[in-house]
Amino acid sequence: MQITAHRGVSSLAPENTLAAFSKAIELDCEWIEIDVQLTLDKVPVVIHDSTVNRSTNGEGLVSEMTLQNLKSLDAGLWFGDAYKGESIPTFEETLLLAKKSNLKVNIELKVYLDDDILLLCKKVNQVIRGSKIADSQLLFSSFNREALKMMQYICPQVRRGQLWREIPTDALLLLEEIKAYSVHCNYRFLNEQQATQIKQNNYQLYCYTPNQPDQVKQHWSWGVDMMITDTPQAYADRLQ
Ligand code: G3P
Ligand code: MG
Repeated sequence: MQITAHRGVSSLAPENTLAAFSKAIELDCEWIEIDVQLTLDKVPVVIHDSTVNRSTNGEGLVSEMTLQNLKSLDAGLWFGDAYKGESIPTFEETLLLAKKSNLKVNIELKVYLDDDILLLCKKVNQVIRGSKIADSQLLFSSFNREALKMMQYICPQVRRGQLWREIPTDALLLLEEIKAYSVHCNYRFLNEQQATQIKQNNYQLYCYTPNQPDQVKQHWSWGVDMMITDTPQAYADRLQ
């Protein structure tokens, strides 16, 4: 459990698409990371930005488009002609693929301005329950502490990871509050002292998004458990 394919294998296929998740399965990655938010008609979908502008051929806010609008967009063409016809996947489609392929999913709960966090959590939980995927195959993560706190009550059986850019000085207190399983931080800002403290307190420690193994040579020796990367293929010795 050392490598997570960030937004799927997003260096080889368009991010957050079933094609990128299938690449992760081909490469024998144990985990993928995905970004989840709600459509206008309150369906959880997998897309990173608040708008569709960068990762599709459309324009507009995800929160102002229905699932039908979103599904009519091409989410692959921007990456390359070979991916023409890829669509924004629903969270449900993603879980069904993961369940079938025994792929573990780090579900990043994306919260943008004015988003209804409680509704996002409830809808995500509904899809998880409907999919009948094993809870052990899942992990929630978020920069938004409210989302993690809500999930602690709505779906306590799924583990929670706190996302930070840089680990704050009061990290242990904050982690205890949400009964966290893991800490996910930007590899650039992690130092050995912070890593040691997190590991001594029995949390899993993950780093995003080192795309070259050289960038994190030291980090493994500090006790980092997993790298969340766009380029799992560069870490071939650490795949399953
Ligand atoms: O989970 C790590 C990473 O995905 C957090 O940042 O912006 O890529 O979603 P971002
Ligand atoms: Mg993410």
